[in-house]
Amino acid sequence: MAQVFDRSSNALARFSLVLTGLIVIALGVALNELQRSPWVTKQGQRPDQPVPFSHKHHVQGLGLQCQYCHTSVEKSSYAGIPPTKTCMNCHSQIWTNAQLLEPVRDSWATGRSINWIRVHDLPDYVYFNHEIHVNKGIGCASCHGRVDQMPLMYQENTLQMEWCLNCHRNPAKNLRPTSEIYNMAWAGASSDNPVWCTTTQNTYGTGVPTAQGVSCVTKDPSGKNPEVAFLQNPPRPGAPAGTNGEGPMQPGRDSMGAGNSGFASEPKSITALGTTSSDVGAIPMPANYTKFTNQVDLGHFLMDKYHIRTANELSSCEVCHR
Ligand code: HEC
Ligand code: HEC
Ligand code: HEC
Ligand code: HEC
Ligand code: HEC
Repeated sequence: MAQVFDRSSNALARFSLVLTGLIVIALGVALNELQRSPWVTKQGQRPDQPVPFSHKHHVQGLGLQCQYCHTSVEKSSYAGIPPTKTCMNCHSQIWTNAQLLEPVRDSWATGRSINWIRVHDLPDYVYFNHEIHVNKGIGCASCHGRVDQMPLMYQENTLQMEWCLNCHRNPAKNLRPTSEIYNMAWAGASSDNPVWCTTTQNTYGTGVPTAQGVSCVTKDPSGKNPEVAFLQNPPRPGAPAGTNGEGPMQPGRDSMGAGNSGFASEPKSITALGTTSSDVGAIPMPANYTKFTNQVDLGHFLMDKYHIRTANELSSCEVCHR
């Protein structure tokens, strides 16, 4: 039989096979890159919002707390976007003629909400919940980045499955005391920035244990500083709530403790510390603060106190795909 293909076509066939293989691999790599690219994950994009709202101005500049606007973040799966009313608390008086704020005034006048464009948006088949993360010691900045430095909001992390699992497999390095959740600058415990924690049930001010029965401070509880002055002078019984300096315009404080004075004013808690009512104001200091000078130790302590599930349990599919 006549040779239909000459020898060179054999080589050509082999060559084109190899070439096809290479193209397939290259496509695979490219698709994989694409799937992780900021273009797909939407990382860093700043959508055109109806109002160019600046977190930098309102958080870092004015000292507003996250919960002033994202009111449900501690008690619901959604953090929530504030209603126009929240803006009008100030903007009925400040910048009342600014062109930039026209959509806010318009929304207020008509009762139609401002159409903010979502920046973070997980697919519907993923279950996410703010409440549990925030109450188990994951700070806003761990997921959203330095919001206080963002003139316009953008997505800092990929929000892909791999990113979630990365933390779920080893949460300890990201855990912080729940009192530090809103602290944008938190960098973990270190010898320069130690953290003191106690499980004592009866302490004052910053030392009021959270629901998890543990509380931490970032200033030496045995030294002389304003936080301790407060520890030594608990509010008098009947003192109005919120006297410990909380308020929306107060920079740097966590208003999760806004309801604390009710606890501290209970006379019983004073006796339980082994002091009599006559030495109230004379150092009812809990003795058993533990000092943490590195994040590994603090992380493991908090894993235990917050009853964090094991890496295996937290990475099982049903946690996020229900
Ligand atoms: C004065 C009100 C106000 C304060 C205070 C505030 N925010 Fe916001 N936040 C908004 C508004 C309005 C939006 C929607 C517009 C936008 O995306 O910029 C928003 C959007 C966001 C988003 C993106 C929502 C989305 O669409 O995915 C995140 C994340 C966020 N805020 C986090 C924070 C954190 C963290 C803090 C505290 C450090 C904070 N915010 C403080 C008003 C506020
Ligand atoms: C606690 C008071 C307060 C609240 C609440 C508040 N603002 Fe402001 N806002 C200000 C002040 C003060 C300025 C001027 C800031 C500056 O120039 O540094 C400002 C400035 C602005 C500006 C001008 C651009 C800029 O950032 O400087 C916009 C736009 C704006 N605010 C939108 C909003 C929106 C939208 C809301 C509601 C989600 C809101 N503000 C809530 C006090 C507030
Ligand atoms: C464990 C990571 C994580 C932490 C911690 C976290 N967020 Fe979020 N946040 C997300 C994800 C993921 C979304 C998108 C949710 C979705 O699309 O359903 C989101 C969405 C939001 C939104 C948009 C509105 C909403 O409720 O979906 C706001 C506002 C917000 N976060 C604010 C905050 C604030 C304030 C804190 C700190 C108190 C915080 N987040 C802590 C991951 C986190
Ligand atoms: C920085 C760390 C961190 C990141 C990032 C993170 N998580 Fe979590 N997640 C935790 C911790 C800690 C818990 C609490 C575990 C426990 O209580 O055992 C948790 C718990 C959960 C739960 C359990 C809720 C319940 O009620 O059982 C869900 C669901 C969840 N995360 C979803 C997600 C999703 C989806 C993402 C990514 C979009 C994500 N998480 C990103 C740390 C993280
Ligand atoms: C900690 C939360 C979390 C856990 C646990 C988790 N996933 Fe996911 N998964 C996600 C998120 C978030 C996405 C959305 C990714 C995106 O938008 O790119 C996702 C997406 C997916 C997708 C869509 C394809 C893709 O990769 O984007 C599949 C399939 C999937 N997950 C399967 C699983 C299986 C199987 C398991 C158990 C082995 C699992 N997931 C465990 C958070 C989780």
